[in-house]
Formats: sequence, C-alpha cells, structure tokens
Amino acid sequence: MKRPKIIAGNWKMNLSFEEATQLTQEILTQYQSYTNEQVKVMLFVPFIYAQKITEICANKPNLYVGVQNMYYQKSGAFTGEISPVMLKSIGVKTVIIGHSERRTLFYEDNALLAKKVKSALEHNLIPVFCVGETLQEREHNKTKEIIQTQIKEGLFHLSKEEFKEVVIAYEPVWAIGTGKNASPEQAQEVHAYIRNLIQMQYNSDIAQAIPILYGGSMKPDNATELLKQPDIDGGLIGGASLKSKDFIQILQSLPQSNV
Ligand code: PGA
Repeated sequence: MKRPKIIAGNWKMNLSFEEATQLTQEILTQYQSYTNEQVKVMLFVPFIYAQKITEICANKPNLYVGVQNMYYQKSGAFTGEISPVMLKSIGVKTVIIGHSERRTLFYEDNALLAKKVKSALEHNLIPVFCVGETLQEREHNKTKEIIQTQIKEGLFHLSKEEFKEVVIAYEPVWAIGTGKNASPEQAQEVHAYIRNLIQMQYNSDIAQAIPILYGGSMKPDNATELLKQPDIDGGLIGGASLKSKDFIQILQSLPQSNV
C-alpha cells in the first residue's frame, strides 16, 4: 500500500492576520498542480486565524487546515485553553500534538500528550504527533531510546483502529529553526526505526501505512534529498513555510512518482 505524502507548514507564533490570509491565498493559487489524493498539504495556523483560514480553504481538495496545539477536554473550566469540539465547530481538520516547543517551553509530558492524541482522534481530528531528541541526547547515543519512549508513552495506548489515523513527525530538536537539518541518512535511520516500532506493536500493514514526516530546517535546497528517502513521507516545515515560494518549492520536491 502506498502511503500518503504530506507537506505541512507549521507557522508557529508568526504573521499578522493580513500576512496569514495573504500567505494562504498565495498557496491556494499554486498548490493544486502538485497535489492529489495521495499528496496532501496541511497548514498549521495560529488559533485566532483558524476560522478565517478554514473559510478561505473551504472545499479545496487535498488541503487540511490545522492548529498547533489543543487541550484534551471537551469543555469546562480550563481558562485559556482550546478544545477539540471548538476546533471541529469551525472546520479544523488536524492538530499538531507534542511539538518539541510545547514539550520544553510549556512542560507538556508524554502522559498529557497521550490524552491529547486520544481526544483528537475521538473528535475526528488528525493528530500529527511529534517526536525528537535533543543534541545532547544524540551525542550520548540516546536517540533511539528517547524516540521509543516518546512513541510508546504518547501513542501505544491507541487501538489499531485509532492508530491508523495518526501522522508522526520526526523532528530532531537540534535541527529545529537552527538551519542545521538532519542528513537524509540520519533522518532515514530514525524513520525506519519508528516504522519498526509500529510494526512490533501493531502489525506491518499499519506500519507501512502511517505517514512519517521529517521536520527541522527543511528548505527548498535540502528537501529533494530528504524526501527521496524511502521512509520519509513528507515534511513538517517551520521557517520555510512562511514564504509561499519556498513552501511550494518544497511541495514540488516530492519524488515525481507521487505527483
Ligand atoms: P523549522 O521548524 O523548519 O523552522 O526548523 C520545523 C518545526 O518546528 O516544525
């Protein structure tokens, strides 16, 4: 079975409202030539722009508007939080869970992230679950151990049926926003390792069907080599997703057999 390919933009806490709608319009005028049922685009936008951007993107094929975080409860006394029900009610389709900036700056741990993933799935939101090691962990040869713990504690409580809907993003923390991407070989090794963990926990059909994206300084000039790797199914792109030209160029870098 052929896995879907996904090119995703994570805008983080950037752009004014005007810039965000402008960027969306620019992407909309170009992305369709490079997408199909198997090649999708996701835009992870700031919460307060999500309603407008879902409206602008309504009925656009193979394009998913998402947000960068959510809380796991449906409603209640959780001041400042956003629930999956609220997201669904404005047409949001997908959500990043466990980005390393949430893990480190906002102290989100695997136990909390496991609840968020489950809740996203219960509300039909596609969770894009992020994992990745720090530079220190890599230098101490702890990469696989860290990734295994993050995947096990964050995802392996899911049933087979639930797990099938998950997207994973491998984002080495040392590569995020640093201009230092993982080499295609380094990334491929971890992606294959993640797929193997899934196979051992669930089965090989599921392992082969789950898209695993790479994130961390992906840019037009390194995307082709990264996206060529057999277990890299797309990208989660921060900095380079803020310019439509770069983002579309990365989308164009997917191996031609997919487009
Ligand atoms: P970057 O960010 O592309 O700016 O490194 C990626 C991410 O954090 O998702």
